Amino acid sequence: MFTKNFLWGGAIAANQCEGAYNKDGKGLSLVDVMPSISEERTKGFNNGKFYDQTFEYYPSHDSIDFYNNYEEDILLLKEMGIKVFRTSISWPRIFPNGDEDKPNEKGLEFYDKLFKLCYDNDIELLVTLNHFDTPYSLYKNYNGWLNNKLINFFINYCEVVFKRYSKYVKYWITFNEINMILHAPFLAGAFDDENNSLDKKYKAIHNQLLASAKAVELGHLINPKFQIGGMIAAATYYPKTCKPEDVWEGIEKDREAFLFVDVQARGKYPAYAKKIFKENNIKLEISKEDEELLKNNKIDFLAFSYYSSRVASTNKDDNITDGNLFASVKNEYLDESEWGWQIDPLGIRIVSNVLYDRYQIPLFVVENGLGAKDTVTDSGEIIDDYRIDYLSKHIKELSNTIEDGVDIIGYTSWGCIDLVSASTGQMSKRYGYIYVDLDDEGNGTRKRIKKKSFYWYKKVIENNGENI
Ligand code: BG6
Repeated sequence: MFTKNFLWGGAIAANQCEGAYNKDGKGLSLVDVMPSISEERTKGFNNGKFYDQTFEYYPSHDSIDFYNNYEEDILLLKEMGIKVFRTSISWPRIFPNGDEDKPNEKGLEFYDKLFKLCYDNDIELLVTLNHFDTPYSLYKNYNGWLNNKLINFFINYCEVVFKRYSKYVKYWITFNEINMILHAPFLAGAFDDENNSLDKKYKAIHNQLLASAKAVELGHLINPKFQIGGMIAAATYYPKTCKPEDVWEGIEKDREAFLFVDVQARGKYPAYAKKIFKENNIKLEISKEDEELLKNNKIDFLAFSYYSSRVASTNKDDNITDGNLFASVKNEYLDESEWGWQIDPLGIRIVSNVLYDRYQIPLFVVENGLGAKDTVTDSGEIIDDYRIDYLSKHIKELSNTIEDGVDIIGYTSWGCIDLVSASTGQMSKRYGYIYVDLDDEGNGTRKRIKKKSFYWYKKVIENNGENI
């Protein structure tokens, strides 16, 4: 049973829906130089160098134009009954180059209006400070998160938005899917890493972990009521067989993501980090001061995205499947989406239990959903039963998770309004309850249409997740 105050909601991110990429003083963000689905986009997860090229179409530039359409969108979400809205602030809208002393007032005004509208409509806000949009100029001029100067630039930005939106926002997330830097270093860490150098990656990771702890420290000083969370792209690894080697492989793979939360929730690097650093020749300098900072500024809650579980195997010939930038061995017991992401509702219960047993802090499911193609019928309807099926199975498992005793604050399904896909740049990979008339080449009226799932989710919220 869901608690009385359970936060039902929806999630989007600035970089995937605002558009207005150069309006009102906004600087370029990393995604603004990324084309739509293509070899180049995929290369771009590791390496931003080719971005001196010019492409015909950049999906983030206008996107679904949430920047100009936010009023209609928030009122639609209100009509659906959401209690919490997750979005992110675009860092380059506030600091166009990332390293200025003074913020861009016009950028701040946009979030004044957006957050006030939510506040006036009793919609709680959950705001991500960095969701794949470090200012591009910090990549160009500083090597992104490889450079520890970014910590202060980030904190400068946090100070401005924490103070400005203190009245409106209670829940914050420092970095979207902080473990994504291991899989998409350019997108998540703003640096080039064609050679998959773990030394580079962990240096950038350490800088982000310090920045996150400093943000927790500062946020709590500015407003002690702030709840500041960390976030990972979560999924447990199932061993492919009960062969002990496969089980061990699963443990090691899980630790790749746990390491981040171990630092953020327990306040120090775990014992196994030493081995990872030694085996991979990672030379990380962790000062006494760093240790104190991490120890004293733990996260208040753990947010996570969940799309599918993963499989670990020592057999190199096993089939590999797609899934949220993490390639994993295919699980023969599961169906998959049109994009090859495997579907495992019970996995959300498994991962929630594992995380709660391990960290014992409140959890927040801040992304979950099915990316699928939708068709508009002749009478203008979208009958997305496949999405309802996916979501209802996951919500039922979430209810079981709460019965297990796990403390879950809320659930914000991903892409409540259709938006540009992070991995492919497509519009046709839709997650929303609200359809947006826009195709993969940027054609369309951007008109919003309520899908069948809109009415379904409205009922779910009204009934607080009972009788789905
Ligand atoms: C998460 C990201 O990794 O997955 C989102 O936080 C992203 O930004 C979501 O959109 C779904 O992935 P995709 O590639 O289908 O957009």
